[in-house]
Amino acid sequence: MAYDFDRIIDRRGTDSCKWDSDPRTIEGADYPLEDGLLPMWIADMDFEVAPEIKEALVHRAEHGVYGYTLVPDSCYEAIISWMERRHGWRVKKDWMRFVPGAVMAGHMVIQAFCHPGDKVIIQTPVYYPFYRMIFNNGARISRCPLTLKGDRYEIDFEEFERCAADPRASFFILCSPHNPVGRVWTREELTRLGEICRRNHVHVLSDELHCDIIMPGHKHIPFASVNEENSAGSITAIAPSKTFNLAGLQATVIITPDPELRRRLDNVLESNSVSRPNLFAITAMEAAYSRCEKWVDEMNAYVSGNYEYLKKAMAQRLPKVRVMPLEGTYLAWLDFRAMEPDGKKLQQRMLTKAKIWLDEGWLFGPEGSGFERVVLACPRRYVEDAVDRFAEAFAAASL
Ligand SMILES: Cc1ncc(COP(=O)(O)O)c(C=O)c1O
Repeated sequence: MAYDFDRIIDRRGTDSCKWDSDPRTIEGADYPLEDGLLPMWIADMDFEVAPEIKEALVHRAEHGVYGYTLVPDSCYEAIISWMERRHGWRVKKDWMRFVPGAVMAGHMVIQAFCHPGDKVIIQTPVYYPFYRMIFNNGARISRCPLTLKGDRYEIDFEEFERCAADPRASFFILCSPHNPVGRVWTREELTRLGEICRRNHVHVLSDELHCDIIMPGHKHIPFASVNEENSAGSITAIAPSKTFNLAGLQATVIITPDPELRRRLDNVLESNSVSRPNLFAITAMEAAYSRCEKWVDEMNAYVSGNYEYLKKAMAQRLPKVRVMPLEGTYLAWLDFRAMEPDGKKLQQRMLTKAKIWLDEGWLFGPEGSGFERVVLACPRRYVEDAVDRFAEAFAAASL
């Protein structure tokens, strides 16, 4: 490997959300907590970014003038070329809009397309800010739970059809790849979802933030690339934030091929005065998409190695914990229900006995209760440490 993903970088004292947040703010933890929690909760990486990104930022910073900025053609070209090379989707410059975040993009999409009381379909358990995107903007949640068949999460298409057929259903937020269950949706699944949405006049926001973090044997397919109809009925969010560890720079791209959907989205962007991008975000994004392909390939291989380690070590040390298959994202999804079926008690054990700070499964919806999400974008040593902590905390329960 050309890059050293094993390197431990001390992030404490850098105002890192992951490492410097006050554990007293943890939802549901109303008991005293000791220091020394291992943080594997929020989805960012403990790896240094690719050297090309750091160089580009340092070079830009040295200029010393940081005024309002434009998106240069070279940045558009970097994104277009990346999407075509890596995902086989040819996007056009005038389809793209730059916004500070994917969650913000989701909020604006709901504002642009939903009337008060409209229903927005989500596939639970799912990335929890989706709930807020919907109800903070006056819409209602239409829950279409994924079904767990053996170890695999699948879409219940009959239930999805029922949700979409509701006359108040106007939007569907797809999480692709899916956070937290780690599915990479197949072409057949995306085609069928698109067909049901089209028939029922439901538009789609496809959140593809994790699209570049794909495990061996799987292939991400952009929802909009599947066919003309999917393209015309959808808005896609991509970003370098997960792929290249740039979340703190706040750079998201919304891609809307359909001119009418774009016009409606532009109205909302304008009314929120979202127009000019962050200078450093643009600098980093261009370097990332144009010069860091090898880094992404190695990062994916490293994360895959972390997952394989976790799976094997858990099978040996805590065989009752199911490590769900990981197709995409760097988020492992662990089923602890055989050890502790009560989600709140499980959280307490994680925080007070294992001393690991994770995103609790119930945050993603009731279907997630008894599961834990573990961020694997970190040096292997942290994963080894996590397994030791799990084993110690559950030693008696596993007998
Ligand atoms: C599916 C998904 N969408 C959006 C985000 C957050 O995006 P942003 O920080 O750009 O709002 C995350 C972060 O974990 C995510 O997993």
